[in-house]
Amino acid sequence: MKKTPEQLYLDLMKTTLSFTLWPEPPIPITTFNYERSTVKRFLVSAISKILDKRKLQIVKKRDFSEDQRITGIIWPGYADTMIGLKRLDNLQYCIETVLGERVEGDLIETGVWRGGACIFMGAVLAAYGIEDRKIFVADSFEGLPKPDAEKYPSDKGDIHHTHTYLAVSKKDVENNFRKYGLLNNQVVFLKGWFKDTLSQAPIEKLSILRLDGDMYGSTMESLNSLYPKLSSGGFCIIDDYALPGCKSAVNDFRSKHAIDSEMKEIDWTGKYWKKE
Ligand SMILES: C[S@@+](CC[C@H](N)C(=O)[O-])C[C@H]1O[C@@H](n2cnc3c(N)ncnc32)[C@H](O)[C@@H]1O
Repeated sequence: MKKTPEQLYLDLMKTTLSFTLWPEPPIPITTFNYERSTVKRFLVSAISKILDKRKLQIVKKRDFSEDQRITGIIWPGYADTMIGLKRLDNLQYCIETVLGERVEGDLIETGVWRGGACIFMGAVLAAYGIEDRKIFVADSFEGLPKPDAEKYPSDKGDIHHTHTYLAVSKKDVENNFRKYGLLNNQVVFLKGWFKDTLSQAPIEKLSILRLDGDMYGSTMESLNSLYPKLSSGGFCIIDDYALPGCKSAVNDFRSKHAIDSEMKEIDWTGKYWKKE
């Protein structure tokens, strides 16, 4: 069947945001420097600084298969989202369904990194001329918090906070929205730790609640503050069900609140359900 201009635009947005249009260029060896031992880290940064003055750079080649990109199983160097094409397709399906079924409410992602999934939410609303729904973009813009093992024992020993790769500034995310022509007054940034921002956020009703905060605490704080605001017929989307902490938080929340809406699979880690 012939695709409409809206579908063609959204297809192009998905392949652009996920960088699947292009082969993955090599990344500077400093990108994952925080994973090296202190001595190696020092040497790598010292050499890189010297080379940088001569406009030279040491890079590492990375070859990703098409399947790895579709299922978002990799941490990409250049994509604006790491969620892969299948989870972008799911996001489009959920938004189109709530629009078609006139389910009331705004859209939110908690845990946005470079902002690509939220930018895609903006693209879907723009494609269908929707101007009366907001997109809440919630993140510390400093990476993940240190685990609070006393409150959330499942997070004990979690090292996500050491990954500086996951810390993207608000300014960079705003610039990413601007690049695609989608930074407008429908986009609302909620900067800070979820425990401080989400319960205070100026949100009345949600139709899409997308969680991508990786840890037990981040997932539970998002669900506690926001799930009660999700309209019936709206979608709760879980990006990190393959991570044990996130999985436990989702299971604990669902059993505590007796949620038995069928949880469907998106891919190896993505799950979602429609609130009844
Ligand atoms: C895996 S990344 C999100 C990927 C993103 N959804 C995408 O489209 O590529 C996780 C993000 O969650 C944020 N995050 C996790 N826990 C948080 C918390 N408790 N408060 C604020 N931000 C948090 C991190 O800063 C990071 O940007």
